[in-house]
Amino acid sequence: MKNILVIGSTGQIGSELTRELRNRYGNEHVVAGFIKGAEPKGELLESGPSAEADVTNAEMISDVVKRYDIDTIYNLAALLSVVAESKPRLAWKIGIDGLWNILEVARENHCAVFTPSSIGSFGPSTPHDHTPQDTIQRPTTMYGVTKVTTELLSDYYFHKYGVDTRSVRFPGVISYVTPPGGGTTDYAVDIYYYATRGEKFTCPIKEGTRMDMIYMPDALNASIMLMEADPTRLVHHNGFNIASLSFGPETVYQSIRKYKPDFEMVYDVDPLKQGIAESWPDIMDDTCARQEWDWKPTYDLDTMTRDMLEHLAVKLGKK
Ligand code: SER
Repeated sequence: MKNILVIGSTGQIGSELTRELRNRYGNEHVVAGFIKGAEPKGELLESGPSAEADVTNAEMISDVVKRYDIDTIYNLAALLSVVAESKPRLAWKIGIDGLWNILEVARENHCAVFTPSSIGSFGPSTPHDHTPQDTIQRPTTMYGVTKVTTELLSDYYFHKYGVDTRSVRFPGVISYVTPPGGGTTDYAVDIYYYATRGEKFTCPIKEGTRMDMIYMPDALNASIMLMEADPTRLVHHNGFNIASLSFGPETVYQSIRKYKPDFEMVYDVDPLKQGIAESWPDIMDDTCARQEWDWKPTYDLDTMTRDMLEHLAVKLGKK
């Protein structure tokens, strides 16, 4: 990875991934790609190069890749699961037409490409407990349909054209920096904001509904570890299961109560979110990622909770 383009650099994962990549590879080697209306600001803008990089515009992506001599693309452009249900066509346009543009540019310019898949690539007929790496993927959401297609198209470009495509299936990603927008797992971020502000939280997901989750530092580490992995060890390329945390609302609530004993939570279940949540795994089996590129998370629920609450207290002026 000499010169890296992060597409979606102002989003939930992109904003922190760009910073981490700049720390590791040098500011000038990491270009923050953005779309109109979501321009980088502050540290992201000032610490390194940035360029408009709209995945729906193949020519624009090609120009940026040539201008900055890019050899690695982190493609984080996507709509999350709940939004994609109300804008299915846009979800496809960004997720799949956009990916196709990127893969073509990567083929022509010999770039490696990372495009995340998700727990959303699974559906109701997938085994939910210790979901295997290679299993049934018949998602019932548009988000899931685009994510399975992402895995297939990325594998296709690898086998057919030798493009070095790699990806993980992200669990719900939890962080205190940039909030997610319109995902099913967002409640597990929101709950920390409410707890920090000392407010009661109304949870849209039913008690006992487990989903895979991951703390941002582990998610960033996984993305970079996989792109740096020795290609001769990789049996899989796209859609690695990575497990880290798995919990339902009541468990994260109890974890927060260890630090904030007065915190209160009630339930008001959102049927759309609940339906999506129930179609996803309870916990994935990540043996392949552990074997093929030494994946290992570092945070458990309580260490994440402590870190989230400490950072949010500063961010929200509660300290
Ligand atoms: N966080 C995503 C969502 O909830 C899942 O990958 O849509």
